[in-house]
Amino acid sequence: MKKYTDKTLSPSERAEDLLKRMTLEEKVGQMLQVSYNALNPVDYERYKKRGIGSFLHALGKERDDIRKKSAKTRLGIPPLLGIDAIHGHALLNGATVFPSQLAMSCSFNRALLFETARATALEVAADGLDWTFSPVLCIARDLRWGRVNETFGEDSYLVGELGKAVITGYEYDGNIIACAKHYIAYGEATGGRDAYDSPVTERKIREVFLPPFKKAVEAGCGSVMTAYGSIDALPLTANKRMLTEILKDELGFDGFVVTDWENVKSLVHKQRAAKDIKDASYLAVEAGNDMSMNTHSFYKYVLELVREGKISKERIDDSVRRILKAKFRIGLFDDKERPDKSVIGCENHRKLNLAIARESMVLLKNDGVLPLKDNVKKIAVVGPNADSIRAQFGDWTFFSHPLPSAIAKPRGEYHTVLDGMREVFGGDKIIFEKGCDIFGHGGGIEKAVDAAKRADAVVCVIGDCLAQNGEYRDRANIDLTDPQTELVSRLCDTGKKVIAVLVNCKPLCIGMLKERCAAVIETFNGGAMGGLAAAELIAGRFNPSGKLSISFPQTSAQMPCYYNHYHGWHGGQYVDLKKDSVYTFGDGLSYTEYAYSNLKLSKKTACKDDVIEVSVDVKNKGGMDGKETVMLFVNDVVSSVLTPVIELKGFRKVFIKAGETKRVTIKLNIDDLAIIKSDCTREVESGDFEIMVGANTRTYLKTVLKVK
Ligand code: GLC
Repeated sequence: MKKYTDKTLSPSERAEDLLKRMTLEEKVGQMLQVSYNALNPVDYERYKKRGIGSFLHALGKERDDIRKKSAKTRLGIPPLLGIDAIHGHALLNGATVFPSQLAMSCSFNRALLFETARATALEVAADGLDWTFSPVLCIARDLRWGRVNETFGEDSYLVGELGKAVITGYEYDGNIIACAKHYIAYGEATGGRDAYDSPVTERKIREVFLPPFKKAVEAGCGSVMTAYGSIDALPLTANKRMLTEILKDELGFDGFVVTDWENVKSLVHKQRAAKDIKDASYLAVEAGNDMSMNTHSFYKYVLELVREGKISKERIDDSVRRILKAKFRIGLFDDKERPDKSVIGCENHRKLNLAIARESMVLLKNDGVLPLKDNVKKIAVVGPNADSIRAQFGDWTFFSHPLPSAIAKPRGEYHTVLDGMREVFGGDKIIFEKGCDIFGHGGGIEKAVDAAKRADAVVCVIGDCLAQNGEYRDRANIDLTDPQTELVSRLCDTGKKVIAVLVNCKPLCIGMLKERCAAVIETFNGGAMGGLAAAELIAGRFNPSGKLSISFPQTSAQMPCYYNHYHGWHGGQYVDLKKDSVYTFGDGLSYTEYAYSNLKLSKKTACKDDVIEVSVDVKNKGGMDGKETVMLFVNDVVSSVLTPVIELKGFRKVFIKAGETKRVTIKLNIDDLAIIKSDCTREVESGDFEIMVGANTRTYLKTVLKVK
């Protein structure tokens, strides 16, 4: 009996047995992933028949054809079928489209993110696929970057915590593999430029960007994706220090590393860091990449390099072993029973989608206009994104990938804000006028203003669109576009109460909304249920609990504006700008008020290997039950390298009934107070640490912890 077919053996034992039976061609074939839209049909067909490690973006008949042809190869090694299921299996029309990562991060709800990931994994597996290129663990600190919507925001601790929850959810049922991406510091490129150089030191990487990947490795993430860019001019694809010495050797990552799209080719044609594809293939393998996403000539060049003795057989075996172990781990060789297709877009996932959409909504301003009273007679719903499901879905759905579609119509249930307002308040109360487009006036402003004059309240839905976001789409100016600014101004000039609802991929400069509108609600890309959740929030059907995971600058020039900046800026602000950002990390209101008191530490003086308990009373003083995210921040009073003025080190989201007081306890691992010193060593320094516990970075109780 072939040991590798023996299900009683471990993935490692089975991989080891299969490895021994493979030819060099079959081994190097496992290190290649191709997509049907990245090479000519003849080559593509050849790879399907030869059998390679993975295919991506294969849906429906294409997926079935790959499976059939792979089964006929000599050893019948099944390929990993990968897809970007980054907020639901959204490249499949009809699957559940959850809110974007950025939207979901504002829920601060680890459990809900675990559930959405688990639901996504069930839909991906039911659709016959095996691997999602998710979660994105990039940290969004320069908002000019086009891919902010794919992140969990600006804070390393939050990104790591939510990334861990999502990876655990994806891999929970053992059906699919997750992929922590993009390794590393992709969003930190100069000027927010996509795939460009990140001028960061290894010290900075260890302080800010590595911790989420460390948590991903600890969570057992099956794969990591190499970022396009470079670290201080050394491309990640050719970066052995980052990929092998730190990720694999130091962190002990035992999954496999896949490059991003055409990274090997980009070394030659974009980064000019290799003279030809053969040289680039050598650099990529030697640095620690185990699989090349596209650049299919990687296959023939790696074969040549091994035969020339330039790449060792041991190096190839290490990559192939990692890939095979992943395949055995999810049962690919064992004709595993996949979830039933009825799970795709099912009612349970719809309910979960509405729950996460509600908790992702952030009420930023409310002068008392919300919740709208039941006796409101007419509501004008206006704005370019009021009825735009494309804007509400955001990036990485069937609208934009694998190939952009201008005509796709969603098959699954969805609710735009206009749909939601009609459902919640009744169609007869709603007057809809688009007012303008994102880029053009469209001649509708007068009609929108007239609708506002005839209404008791105005809901104005603005933001951005896919043309302004995504890969290759960085923005130098993140203002609301002029037609939208004019629309909002004219609506406010009517004297009516204007409720601004933002449907956008990233923070925008919304100082005018904060100043002139009666209420501001941030939904980001709320997914299929986002419009209904927004309308329910406006009607007071639930108590909003979302808090910002990312800051909003006053102007595009006020960047970076992330909250956890270092001490030391002379003056602390630009001479031509007010201090602070328009909104900052942690901001978010509810329909009730939470009062914090009685902050206590289980120890006032701790040792470096202690875990202490930080406790506080939280009272819901209002008349509505609600959920509150209690945040624990730290300020290292004196440190041998600069440290942030305030930084998140813990959070818990708790349900508190109206009038009830809950004692909330958060564990603080003193090791989490470590700094990365200039020689890259990690140390918890003795001294005083301010411990702040509260609703956000502006409202908290403070005490001092001494570390010996
Ligand atoms: C894209 C993205 C990456 C994605 C991959 C496959 O270019 O950078 O995030 O997973 O290619 O679609």
